[in-house]
Order: sequence, then C-alpha cells, then structure tokens
Amino acid sequence: MALRLGDIAPNFTAPTTHGDIDFHDWQGDAWVVLFSHPKDYTPVCTTELGMTAKLGEAFAERNVKAIAVSVDTVEDHNGWIGDIEETQGAAVNFPIIGDPDRVVAGLYDMIHPNANDTLTVRSLFIIAPDHTVKLMITYPASTGRNFDEVLRVIDSLQLTANHSVATPANWTSGERVIVSPGLDDDAATAKFGGFDKVKPYLRYVADPSS
Ligand code: BEZ
Repeated sequence: MALRLGDIAPNFTAPTTHGDIDFHDWQGDAWVVLFSHPKDYTPVCTTELGMTAKLGEAFAERNVKAIAVSVDTVEDHNGWIGDIEETQGAAVNFPIIGDPDRVVAGLYDMIHPNANDTLTVRSLFIIAPDHTVKLMITYPASTGRNFDEVLRVIDSLQLTANHSVATPANWTSGERVIVSPGLDDDAATAKFGGFDKVKPYLRYVADPSS
C-alpha cells in the first residue's frame, strides 16, 4: 500500500555516494528531505541537485538532512556530481542513494507506471525525527521543484510541531499564524495572551517562534 502522512518512513539499507547507510540510523535526530529524481545526467535533475547543494546551510539551520535517490548506480552518481558542481556552482554535500534494483523506489512508491514504468518520478518526502512522514509532494519529470516551497513547508512543520498553531495560505516564517482549532478561547488566551478573532474559527496570533 502506498505511504500516507503519519506512517513510519520505511527503513532500508542502501549504498550512497557517502557510503552504505541504514536510513533510520543515518537520520539520527534530524528532519529529512528524501527526494527522487528520474535519471542522472539529465537537465532538470542537474538543477535540482545543484539547488539542494546551494541550500545546504538553510537545511542545516533547520536541522534537516537532504538525501536524493534514483535508479542509477552510485558509480553513475559520482560521475554526474562533477557536472552538477561545474554547472550549478555548489558542492554536492549530501548523499545520493544508488537504487538500480528499485528497492527504495518500491518502498516509497516512487515509480508511477503510467508516467514512466522504469524511472522514478520527482517524489519528495519530509520525515520528522521520529521517522513519521509529514509531507509528500510529487512532480512530473518535466517540472523542477520549487525549493522555496520546500523550505516554507519545513518551517511550517517545525512550528506546528512545537506550538498549537496552524499556518495560513502562502504563510512564510515570521508572519502571523492561526490558533489551532483544538484550542478554545480560554486556552488560547492562556497560551498566547490574546488573539485576533476574525471569526470564532479564525483566530490569529503572532508567530510564536519569532
Ligand atoms: C530532466 O531531469 O530534465 C528529465 C529527466 C527525465 C525525463 C525528463 C526530464
């Protein structure tokens, strides 16, 4: 059955460009962005892995580890990394899983046969430190991801994991947030010292992490 939000991200052992890993051990107490790309030595994928490399500091600030996967071998990845670094101007400082036997692709349902029956689509999973799947996004091969959105969602997931709030449409870090519907007015006042009540179900407070 396909993975769903809240499921435990399946564990696996696999070869990567940083050596063999046990996925859960490798995760440690970090958040993880696990993402697939269709194929090495292809243009959109080259820009995506370059962008992930450029965002290394932004991920580290958020205690996030990135890891990529495709059905190519580690040997292919290692050759391609030179092209990524040359054309995208950033060192590939995260591991890329070699998955020629499609073990990881199968566990994470990354091959969508009606799109392509051998290559992974652009799946992206955000996994919390307790190994639960918090977000899944799927793009077709022809569309590169919006990494601003990936960072934005990480900020929302980390904020809502620690505070009784939700984040509105197009929210970015620092903007006002919504009081969780699970909190009644008295509890919300006790927690936040007050709120802006637009409707009984729509109550805003300042970003509690700012
Ligand atoms: C790309 O990364 O550009 C790509 C990969 C597979 C199919 C189509 C495009």
